[in-house]
Amino acid sequence: MKVQGILIASLLCGIALAQNEQHRVTKIPGIDIEFKSRWYSGYYNVTTYQQRHYLFIESLNKPETDPVLVFFNGGPGAASIMVAFGYNSPIVVKSRVTFEADFQENPHTWCNNASVLFIDNPADVGYSYAEREKDAHTNDFSFARDILTFMLAFYGDWPSLYNNPLYIVGISYGGNYAPYTTWALHQYNQELKLDASTSKKPFPLKGFIAANGVTDFETDPYIQTVDAYNAHNALPLALFKQWKENGCRVYWQGVKPDRLPGPCKELAQKISDNVGHMYIYDMLTMNEELKPASERNTTHLQSTRQNIQDISRIIKDHRFKQFMDAPACDGEGILQQSNGMNIIEWLNSTEVKTALHVNPKKTNFTMISETAFVNFHSGRESSRWIYEQLVHYGYKLMHLMGDTDAILSLPGAWQWIKAMNLPVTREWTPWLSVRDEGQLVGYLKEYSKNFTLVTVHGSGHDALNSKDSEVPQLIRNFIFDLPIPPTS
Ligand SMILES: *[C@@H]1O[C@H](CO)[C@@H](O)[C@H](O)[C@H]1NC(C)=O
Ligand SMILES: *[C@@H]1O[C@H](CO)[C@@H](O)[C@H](O)[C@H]1NC(C)=O
Ligand SMILES: *[C@@H]1O[C@H](CO)[C@@H](O)[C@H](O)[C@H]1NC(C)=O
Ligand SMILES: *[C@@H]1O[C@H](CO)[C@@H](O)[C@H](O)[C@H]1NC(C)=O
Ligand SMILES: *[C@@H]1O[C@H](CO)[C@@H](O)[C@H](O)[C@H]1NC(C)=O
Ligand SMILES: *[C@@H]1O[C@H](CO)[C@@H](O)[C@H](O)[C@H]1NC(C)=O
Repeated sequence: MKVQGILIASLLCGIALAQNEQHRVTKIPGIDIEFKSRWYSGYYNVTTYQQRHYLFIESLNKPETDPVLVFFNGGPGAASIMVAFGYNSPIVVKSRVTFEADFQENPHTWCNNASVLFIDNPADVGYSYAEREKDAHTNDFSFARDILTFMLAFYGDWPSLYNNPLYIVGISYGGNYAPYTTWALHQYNQELKLDASTSKKPFPLKGFIAANGVTDFETDPYIQTVDAYNAHNALPLALFKQWKENGCRVYWQGVKPDRLPGPCKELAQKISDNVGHMYIYDMLTMNEELKPASERNTTHLQSTRQNIQDISRIIKDHRFKQFMDAPACDGEGILQQSNGMNIIEWLNSTEVKTALHVNPKKTNFTMISETAFVNFHSGRESSRWIYEQLVHYGYKLMHLMGDTDAILSLPGAWQWIKAMNLPVTREWTPWLSVRDEGQLVGYLKEYSKNFTLVTVHGSGHDALNSKDSEVPQLIRNFIFDLPIPPTS
């Protein structure tokens, strides 16, 4: 009997698939398009009680050698997988107005020249979850430690990826996720160097890209928002001047005490009266949030939207009108508008969950998680300090800014970049489109030690997902050390 037991056990071991093959996805209900590279979806434990979900899509070109991009959406609380099916993966929704679960091939997918690992971070976002509520509390350091745990497990199943250049990408609050993750992986690599006898491999970490990202709570969100409005001709000069002279400041999530001396509250009210109807995430588009949910054009309200509730709390007493009027974003606009099944419902369906190796009993799909937002405890540090350290270790860092975003604004980026005091190695250079010959896409400026600022002209908070051919070209060239701006 015993012998037989061992035999069966060894047989089971023999046929047991590597974890990554257990996570292989070859078909998802609702998508009739053939996958042209290998897709994987599943979980890795980051603690005994917390599971992080990922979607990994191999490069369509040379997965053996092409770089790996780890992608984080922001929030905290916004799902990355939503960006996959909305924008960046090889198969995306046909309409970014209705977000119906009706798909087409994406000629501009990041997977053309990279393998992309979408991680839903932290717990309660997308399909990621915690077994117990008390395990779902997170801060910038703890999530980064969790992602390090995740990456060690993931690379354990994908040892060949230790040979591919690795970049981390984050949007919005992901402006903290990307640097903190890079920092955690960097620390791990540094520690390996102390142990000459180790057989463990360092992560092939090359750098990060932050897009309209949180970087310095002394500038954004909110503080340079008024400067951004001013730069867009929305305020009388005298009002702006008074606001600046009085040093009025409100901070993200109470990370520091607000400073609202003297007339600041009154000035805030006057500013609100002027800018209240502008859309804070993109000053040049119509403010769909002023319409009832059922009538909104969701094109500009999708995945990178933040949870509005926090903001209204912060400015409770300061009242920038647009914050107050905005309804809480839980994808409501999308849910109410599409005629057929939209991608939130689709991702939440038992069939799709099952295909993606998600246990329907364990988790619902959450596009914007209020729980994750509330349970995220931002520190006052933000991420500028990480830029200041990492530039000295040979990493490539890119900060990309849509220049019509008022919440994480270009005027804000100028403030913290100036404070970093890096020598300029390439002056302000226009970035021209390759496809639409000579048309302006944006600008770039390079600083000593591989730090690049890129702007996307006329794009708002989701600049990374805008300009469907030019931005992916820029990212490709950046990760391949090819010329930027791209010339072909
Ligand atoms: C992950 O944690 C769960 C318990 O929450 C456990 O059942 C499972 O075996 C763990 N998996 C791994 C690979 O550690
Ligand atoms: C990107 O992929 C295309 C094939 O789709 C290939 O022709 C091209 O050489 C690749 N670019 C780089 C930089 O590897
Ligand atoms: C929604 O906005 C997009 C982008 O501005 C536009 O192309 C589209 O026509 C709009 N849709 C409707 C129904 O207004
Ligand atoms: C997800 O599905 C569950 C039932 O499986 C349902 O109760 C929940 O409301 C759904 N959530 C969304 C956002 O559709
Ligand atoms: C899914 O959502 C429904 C409705 O809000 C809720 O009753 C159910 O407990 C949720 N399921 C999980 C696994 O969280
Ligand atoms: C900048 O990046 C390139 C390409 O990765 C690398 O060869 C070079 O050493 C880096 N330079 C600095 C100053 O870090």
